[in-house]
Amino acid sequence: MDITETAEWRALAEHHRALAPAHLRDLFAGDPRRGERLTAKAGDLYIDYSKHRVTDETLRLLIALAERAGLRDRIAAMFRGEHINTTEDRAVLHVALRMPADEDLVVDGQPVVRDVHEVLGRMREFADRVRSGEWRGHTGRPIRAVVNIGIGGSDLGPAMAYTALQAYAARELTLRFVSNIDPTDFAEATRDLDPAETLFVVSSKTFTTLETLTNATVARDWLLRGLGADEAAVAKHFVAVSTNTEAVQSFGIDPQNMFEFWDWVGGRYSLTSAIGLSLMVAIGPEAYDEMLAGFSAVDEHFRTVPLEANVPVLLGLLNVWYRGFFDAQTHAVLPYSQYLSRLPAYLQQLTMESNGKSVRADGQPVATATGEVYWGEPGTNGQHAFHQLLHQGTSLVPADFIGFGEPNHPVGDMHDLLMANMLAQSAVLAFGRTAEEVAADGTPTPLVPHTIMPGNRPSTVILAPRLTPATLGQLVALYEHVVFTQGVVWQINSFDQWGVELGKVMARELAPALSGAEPVSLDQDTSTAALVAHYRRLRGR
Ligand code: F6P
Repeated sequence: MDITETAEWRALAEHHRALAPAHLRDLFAGDPRRGERLTAKAGDLYIDYSKHRVTDETLRLLIALAERAGLRDRIAAMFRGEHINTTEDRAVLHVALRMPADEDLVVDGQPVVRDVHEVLGRMREFADRVRSGEWRGHTGRPIRAVVNIGIGGSDLGPAMAYTALQAYAARELTLRFVSNIDPTDFAEATRDLDPAETLFVVSSKTFTTLETLTNATVARDWLLRGLGADEAAVAKHFVAVSTNTEAVQSFGIDPQNMFEFWDWVGGRYSLTSAIGLSLMVAIGPEAYDEMLAGFSAVDEHFRTVPLEANVPVLLGLLNVWYRGFFDAQTHAVLPYSQYLSRLPAYLQQLTMESNGKSVRADGQPVATATGEVYWGEPGTNGQHAFHQLLHQGTSLVPADFIGFGEPNHPVGDMHDLLMANMLAQSAVLAFGRTAEEVAADGTPTPLVPHTIMPGNRPSTVILAPRLTPATLGQLVALYEHVVFTQGVVWQINSFDQWGVELGKVMARELAPALSGAEPVSLDQDTSTAALVAHYRRLRGR
């Protein structure tokens, strides 16, 4: 079945033709309660989706589309541990990572929740030992800096969450993240650190990733250089987070110092697995547990709430609506919180690695546009940079505004000003300003066309009481399930990422030519061959 061939899709296409000319001004004028009515709650998150180009009929048709795509059944299949990642023949069970200990879930013969809590227990013990100073480095000094080495899902989750939750972190501990194979990343992250007081957490699901293994080797050399070349130091200064015990061992890290997770956790869904270890060390096990409870609250919402009131389902379907029928190619994430500055980068991997697919799960080409380009910056900074295009550009860019009731740092009325800006942006995008309104303000006639604000630009406002470990967990789980919803409707496998492989293989093949160890291959395309040759000249090779 091709979703675009169904009666439900056709009904939406027809409905779109009728609704597209309608302005949000008219939709609000026609329903005095719209701003309160088209809202929902998931956990502590209050979600206003009233400023979307939808009517009750649109929502009904979108839900019918979700039903037709079998969304309810797919959600249940994920929670049951079915192998819904079909191309890799794996279960997709990040939701099991935050299930309470008394939940009994056995998948492929493994008691997964029991295994999860066993590792969580080891993580808590380790985090407490590092935080209390009981874990000593090779020279007997306590650890004062933790460096997470990982990339993609083994970096972005803990890095984003640490940035978000700095207000909850042990400030006497320094936490750094090294991901890039650009040697400057490691150099800058460690330039002021003392090897005797530094602990490396090497995080890699596969433990085969070039960047991570290269940086881990550089880290080991740095440590041994600093501590008198005594190999015994490695055990005190390196722990690993991985699914691959053998590779961890052959790298030289004692499996006793390894925190395990499983192939049913996708890299971009792994923040709540042992990949969160460096974060747990920073914020402590209690705050980490609160974050897990936040995730779990929204997981339960997604699993149990009827589709019509299910927030991730609604937001996912709205994305399908804009991508499929309005040709919206990008989606802006605009957190009005400096602490959430890494959220857009995190969501780029979550959404784009998951749903950037042009082949359906059954191997046939998709007949509809899929994955949007996610991007964004915290407000109010973005307002002074790219909001011009959001307001008056020619592209439709659905936007998510994320804000909080209480500030983490109350200073005068700054937080009120921050939130006033957020609400103003969402309102201006929706309602704009007509030529008559502009002219009535006394704007000189030649300037009127330039100052008209077209409006009718959709956005969601997500308002949480305060940025806490719990609300961060709720927010991330919300996006995870939005991605799931879109993937089901688009009939793609949101849990593989074959598109990243060829570039890795080619880079390995090209490296010897760049270093001068091998001649420039005549098999290369002429562009790559010329670039390699030019690079070699620049390096004097
Ligand atoms: O190259 C993409 C990718 O496989 C991501 O999916 C993953 O999060 C990242 O690389 C890192 O992989 P690993 O955790 O196995 O080092």
